[in-house]
Amino acid sequence: MMQDPAGSFEVPMADSPLIQLTDITKIYQMGDMEVRALDGVSMGIQRGEYVAIMGPSGSGKSTMMNIIGCLDTPTAGSYELNGKLASAMSDDNLAQIRNEEIGFVFQTFNLLARTTSLQNVELPLIYAGKTPHQRHEMAQRALENVGLGTRSDHMPNQLSGGQRQRVAIARALVNEPSILLADEPTGALDSKTSIEIMALFEDLYQKGNTIILVTHEEDIARHAHRIVKLRDGKIIHDEPNIPITPEEHMARLSL
Ligand SMILES: Nc1ncnc2c1ncn2[C@@H]1O[C@H](COP(=O)(O)OP(=O)(O)O)[C@@H](O)[C@H]1O
Ligand SMILES: [Mg+2]
Repeated sequence: MMQDPAGSFEVPMADSPLIQLTDITKIYQMGDMEVRALDGVSMGIQRGEYVAIMGPSGSGKSTMMNIIGCLDTPTAGSYELNGKLASAMSDDNLAQIRNEEIGFVFQTFNLLARTTSLQNVELPLIYAGKTPHQRHEMAQRALENVGLGTRSDHMPNQLSGGQRQRVAIARALVNEPSILLADEPTGALDSKTSIEIMALFEDLYQKGNTIILVTHEEDIARHAHRIVKLRDGKIIHDEPNIPITPEEHMARLSL
């Protein structure tokens, strides 16, 4: 679901967040030892927010991302996504909600080799049952939205790292999911390209997308409009953030 362009979308009602985590605990059983990966996490995210989830290795970021992305369920607590109680769903229901509501972006892009940009972006639309004509139109538009309209016939190995990540972002968004969930999306990119991807995220945010950015890099998190910090499975900080602009970030790195 898309919102109106920058500035004109209404602030959603405070009592109807897109994501509501309530007292989420995730315990992994390792032999007779318990690992408390998340320990009573409560947080709401409104439609149209751009949130960074930050923390050191082992703090629970991936566990939280897996729960938000409906790839895993909590040991205790409730997770509501778009008004639906995901924490109690079957694997089949979770798979369906995942396909409809979540666009994933990963550090390593996960594109199909020897497959054009356009075909890579069309993939989710095949599962969604679109006709070939619809697929072509929608995928081309999604590529144009990430600045790659003229690269639709290129294979991944004919693209730079930053361009590959743009294709992956177009693929994540082509179904118009409720949330873009990005796990260390700049982890495999150099600083300048990372900042370009952050500029694209800001643009997507301004167009009304809801973005959750998981990162261990403070500099990257500073591009988000809200920063949530995890430590030992608990939220230790959750504040709005005035984002650093791509230009400021470039200047700081003397790029
Ligand atoms: N499948 C698992 N089995 C056992 N322990 C796990 C598993 N996944 C994560 N953990 C543990 O849970 C804690 C949080 O891990 P994780 O969410 O991956 O942190 P992060 O992504 O912030 O590095 C760590 O102590 C990790 O060792
Ligand atoms: Mg992790």
